[in-house]
Amino acid sequence: MLCRQDPARVYDPQIIKAQFPLLANRELRGEPPIVYLDSASTTQKPQCVIRAIEKYLVASNANINRGVYALSESSTEQYEHAREVVARFIGATHSRNIVFTHGTTESINMVALGWARNMLKAGDTIIVTEVEHHANIVPWQMLAKNKGVRLTFLPVDEAGSFDKDIYARLLEQNPKLVCVSGMSNVTGYLPPCKQMVEWAQRAGARTLIDAAQLVAHKPLDVRDLGVDFLAFSGHKLYGPTGIGVLYANDSVLDDLEPVFGGGVMVSQVTTTSSILAGIPTRFEAGTPAIVEAIGLNAALEFLESIGMAAIEQQGLVLYRYALEKLLQFPNLTILGNTDSTDERVGKRTGIISFAINGIHPHDVAQAFDDRNICMRGGHHCAMPLHHALHTPGSSRISFGVYTTQADLDVFADVLAQIIALLT
Ligand SMILES: Cc1ncc(COP(=O)(O)O)c(C=O)c1O
Repeated sequence: MLCRQDPARVYDPQIIKAQFPLLANRELRGEPPIVYLDSASTTQKPQCVIRAIEKYLVASNANINRGVYALSESSTEQYEHAREVVARFIGATHSRNIVFTHGTTESINMVALGWARNMLKAGDTIIVTEVEHHANIVPWQMLAKNKGVRLTFLPVDEAGSFDKDIYARLLEQNPKLVCVSGMSNVTGYLPPCKQMVEWAQRAGARTLIDAAQLVAHKPLDVRDLGVDFLAFSGHKLYGPTGIGVLYANDSVLDDLEPVFGGGVMVSQVTTTSSILAGIPTRFEAGTPAIVEAIGLNAALEFLESIGMAAIEQQGLVLYRYALEKLLQFPNLTILGNTDSTDERVGKRTGIISFAINGIHPHDVAQAFDDRNICMRGGHHCAMPLHHALHTPGSSRISFGVYTTQADLDVFADVLAQIIALLT
């Protein structure tokens, strides 16, 4: 198997990094070697994903679910196998609970339009949190406008965390749905999702977890979480762009209606009506992202071969290492976190955002780019969270399986130079 790791080997990011051509090939990217600290935006792709896509296109390419010839049938099998691998990766009981979409954004919109639009009525409450990416805010605002549902925001404290008492009080409003990010794309905060789901269920609400960031950093078990809907994107998980996942458990799946109509998602069509195909095909109108599903399959097998538990551990080591480095800079404020001994630190991983007094985040990102270091400056599609943390924007570094302590050493050296130059 391509990119299989030696199970006896201890996690070594250098060995992992060597499997990512864009990071490993110095000739390709020039000098100094690229330091990629923007994995929260999208991850780099390992050789095995690139090869799996190439292999499929060279040897297997055909449309699925329609041809009766062998090539098409094999393509259908590979696509459905990818669905099974996704189900296994997140602990879903069955592949019918897995809907392929084009990304987290589409998955959440599918819940808003295909489920909430039918199941909720004017005046019903949806709880959304201030931590959310715009992808888990705007679809609910659109629904509120069109349907008259009420949005209530669970606020964050100065550390960017939730207060359980406030959450409990909001649940007294008998919300119909609670939408929460499994991991903040700004602070790396990991809310207590399992407990939040449990409490929401006790209050009679359905739950949706935006796992766009979470899924790349921690082992995920949707049954253990008890969540109703869960969304993520392939491209933040070492797979290609253009493929995403919506997990829906059995208790909500039958109430989920297709948002898009077209070929394949129907079993019969007359001029007056049509009969829907089975679940999950009815949610995937038209030609789906077949090549991308093959790529995602390879990415998940790659992650399984390293082990998500090992990835989680390594992520925490790296997070603390980066945090210690950043805390040495006096005129720099870390968003949602000020103390590395704070017990909440253990509830964050993978992503750190900061503001430097007197320097615009775009200037910071530009200065890093001059040294071949990729990081983000701006609001990271999380304006309400930045507002709650009293800053219009921030500089963000985020880590992947290939991130090394040496990367962070280079980053910290350059950061010191930038601060000296620009302040
Ligand atoms: C937490 C979170 N949710 C949703 C999204 C949207 O993902 P996509 O653009 O792949 O749909 C992102 C992307 O950064 C994210 O970080």
